[in-house]
Amino acid sequence: MLRVGVMVSGGGTNLQAILDAVEEGRITNVEIEVVISNNPGAYALERAKNHGIEAVCMSPKDYETRDDFNRAFLEKVDEYHLDLIVLAGFLVKIPEAMVEKYEHRIINIHPSLIPSFCGVGYYGLKVHEAALARGVKVTGATVHYVDGGMDTGPIILQKAVEVQENDTPELLQRRVMEQAEWVILPKAIDMIANGMV
Ligand code: GRF
Repeated sequence: MLRVGVMVSGGGTNLQAILDAVEEGRITNVEIEVVISNNPGAYALERAKNHGIEAVCMSPKDYETRDDFNRAFLEKVDEYHLDLIVLAGFLVKIPEAMVEKYEHRIINIHPSLIPSFCGVGYYGLKVHEAALARGVKVTGATVHYVDGGMDTGPIILQKAVEVQENDTPELLQRRVMEQAEWVILPKAIDMIANGMV
């Protein structure tokens, strides 16, 4: 049974997709041990509580220095003896010590086809604004391992999504979430839990 922790910062629709997939048997051999957010207002924390999953909030803002937060964050995560950490819309940079300690055990969902529209400054709606500004006809989402860089680790799964006429960033984001993110993130977790990656 793979012990999984999910890190969130926002609405938690990717978390919800994971919870639904576990409930419907599309993810097997997984136990979601904890949901951690840096944002006390993240609805993702409500989603966790509604599922009886421990919801923890800790933010760099609560610490004197980033180093203090990084140490406390790693200590907290270690408490759950996780086999896999899933970054589902998590907007805090993962401390280097955590990347090293959990090497090949942290995955991230990014709302574009990496290597397009990724790296520093590309998150949330900004990704879709850049895709529309470039005029790409196809975009999508990527699940990848987290390494020391930003959106640079080995790619696990990708799924393409068509850009449509008159798309706004919001419309495109929604389509990428519905048609790609909420499909490949649960699938990647199930593949890892069942030794298929
Ligand atoms: C969204 O921008 C999504 O594309 C990205 O993280 C953000 C928050 O998603 N992966 P969620 O609803 O909190 O899962």
